[in-house]
Amino acid sequence: MAITSAHFDQVKQLVAACSGIHLAPGMEGYVEARIEELAHVLKLKSSIEFFRQLEKNLIADVGFLLSEIVANKETSFFRDGHPFDALRQQVIPELMTQRAAEMKLTIWSAGCSTGQEPYSAALLLRQHFPALSGWAVEIHGADIAEDVLAVAQSGNYTQADINRGMPAPLLLKNFQKTGSNWQLKDEIRQLVQFRQVNLAEPWPELPKMDIIFLRYVLSYLTPEASQDILKKVAGLLRPDGYLFLGSKETVSGLDDLFSEEQINKAVCYRLKSAKPKWSVADDDW
Ligand SMILES: C[S@@+](CC[C@H](N)C(=O)[O-])C[C@H]1O[C@@H](n2cnc3c(N)ncnc32)[C@H](O)[C@@H]1O
Repeated sequence: MAITSAHFDQVKQLVAACSGIHLAPGMEGYVEARIEELAHVLKLKSSIEFFRQLEKNLIADVGFLLSEIVANKETSFFRDGHPFDALRQQVIPELMTQRAAEMKLTIWSAGCSTGQEPYSAALLLRQHFPALSGWAVEIHGADIAEDVLAVAQSGNYTQADINRGMPAPLLLKNFQKTGSNWQLKDEIRQLVQFRQVNLAEPWPELPKMDIIFLRYVLSYLTPEASQDILKKVAGLLRPDGYLFLGSKETVSGLDDLFSEEQINKAVCYRLKSAKPKWSVADDDW
């Protein structure tokens, strides 16, 4: 069955209203395939049956179910490299100086998918900042989709996941082979707390964050949802904190709140009041 434009529009509206995810023209085939999957999960015969039930209002939380299934969940360890270089070279050393008295560091991966992003941060801290072992380090991961959070919580990755960005020395030190998969050791896994959060809805109570990763989430959202989320991010970020977006993602329209800062090859955002003062060399892992 080819999805009708009326059905595509209906799904598009339900998804945007629930999660802010934007389904652009041209995504009809993708949406249709995801709805076939959802129909299967809901034990319906086909997507035709799904739309019949939808017309009769028989599917509870349908906007949420559709959002979970259509969301792009692409991720990898140490994705793009540069933001993690920036963490190691400038951001963490600077925050360790700023937070020396309270000895507390808080990181949030908003839209964390299967966990590679927050675990990359955890691995980086363990590998390069042993002095943080005496600190209260909190790393939080949040996503709308239950299936990715289950993988994230398990810390169990396929060889294909590992091949995407995990440096061999970190793999050998921090993972155990389990069958054909790799299991992240508990000492790293326990550094990250995951929870289900719909960023487009009011957020649960969260601590103020020193670093927020909101990478490759906004690209898939409507401009209105992006702006709302960025405003809430501004409220959650500590005044001297750092925000990382995906490459090509910007805080467009909210230049009154955020200023752009370049750290070697990485771009990050600071609250307008923050004053950058570090400059460091570009070296390797
Ligand atoms: C493309 S992945 C990016 C993962 C990771 N940040 C990275 O850069 O590798 C985007 C993630 O954002 C999540 N997401 C999309 N809309 C969301 C929303 N409204 N609330 C919470 N998570 C959302 C998706 O489920 C998906 O796992």
